[in-house]
Amino acid sequence: MDKIRVTGGVPLRGVVSISGAKNAALPAMIASLLTAETIELENLPDVIDIRTTRKLLSEFGVEADVKQGGSAVLRARRVTGCEAPYDLVKTMRASILVLGPLLGRFGRARVSLPGGCAIGSRPVNLHIEGLKKMGARCEIVHGYVEALSEGLRGANILFDTVTVTGTENLMMAACLADGETTLDNAACEPEVADLAGLLNSMGAQIEGAGTRTISIRGVKELHGCRYRIIPDRIEAGTFAAAAVITRGEIDIAGCRPDHMTAVLKQLEQAGAEIEVGKDSVRVCGKNPIRSLDVTTHPYPAFPTDMQAQYMALMTQGDGSAVITESIFENRFMHALEMARMGADIIIDGRRAVVKGGQALTGARVLASDLRASASLILAGLVAKGDTFIDRVYHLDRGYYHIEEKLSRLGAIIERIR
Ligand code: EPZ
Repeated sequence: MDKIRVTGGVPLRGVVSISGAKNAALPAMIASLLTAETIELENLPDVIDIRTTRKLLSEFGVEADVKQGGSAVLRARRVTGCEAPYDLVKTMRASILVLGPLLGRFGRARVSLPGGCAIGSRPVNLHIEGLKKMGARCEIVHGYVEALSEGLRGANILFDTVTVTGTENLMMAACLADGETTLDNAACEPEVADLAGLLNSMGAQIEGAGTRTISIRGVKELHGCRYRIIPDRIEAGTFAAAAVITRGEIDIAGCRPDHMTAVLKQLEQAGAEIEVGKDSVRVCGKNPIRSLDVTTHPYPAFPTDMQAQYMALMTQGDGSAVITESIFENRFMHALEMARMGADIIIDGRRAVVKGGQALTGARVLASDLRASASLILAGLVAKGDTFIDRVYHLDRGYYHIEEKLSRLGAIIERIR
């Protein structure tokens, strides 16, 4: 298994280009199931989850051609099956997103339950309850969601908890339902709004995406289109944190600063100098890092997918910071690994107290999930000596060649195959 070695101590400088957003690309590819016509997508990141999604779509008979350079041509002309097998779903939870489109277009779906993961139990009850409200019959049999419908009907759905893929799943199902669906307390992440943008380009009638209330008027069928995926705000946020923690200066190009407001505001209050352009952000970390509390919440608040990276930064703060994780019940695995590097972090349930001013030293550490892996790289960039990060397959699921991008900024980092 590959490892990554990072040697700390170099301030990062230069320009980095941001790839397309993984969490926008996955639902966009899956939306191709909603039409028999061709969907052309651009700006897909070349990461493992994209390849898994292509494999998943091929399982159903979708002609899925993902090209070098981030474009894909997808056509669900002859769908031969409606089953998402355990072996694929267990490698990528977002596979659950096939449920809505398969049920909406074909009236049947058999999808393996994703089960829990390192960061939490991650149930999908809200996805299933929503589909039942739209008239589907859903039951859990042998670890699979078995769903049938003679034609979905529009419904008013109020989410108990804001759920990103839950909103996306029901939004896709509602596109082909009979009548109007309203999703209240919906997720308004940019990735949700981007999916609605794609669906409307396919002929759907969606209003309010990007707000807490989304209304979808069902149509008879959807058509093909060409669509460009938004840039990855979490990848951009990770590089912003890298500039601050290494006391360097990075121009983050090809991003959407308007999708990063909470992260940039938090970094600025923690001492960073931030210059926002139209599709770029300059982040300078020359000032001392201030310890500052943060609580993760659904968009537009501070994202849980930046919590681990922020924790690494707070190990270098000038006091103590309390980090509260309100979304997932078990998303502090990285803290234990940072402690191996000399960090002083006290975990108390969903709160972590991070003591600043820690002189980290390189160590062998284990990545437990995608964002934890990125946070260990950030910690390694300021640690004395070498840090070896194991299980980097987590990283490859969502970051495109991060070590190459970092080394172009001056980092001493390499992948050990
Ligand atoms: C999406 O996951 C992202 N994944 C996650 O990014 C991200 O961390 C998360 O949203 C929150 O922002 C993709 O978009 C592919 P949720 P999702 O449903 O949709 C509870 C990354 O690092 N819940 O919004 O699975 C759930 O347990 C990944 O790129 C229910 O209780 O997350 C959690 O506490 C990690 N029942 C909360 O809601 C449900 O049916 C939010 O989860 C669904 C969710």
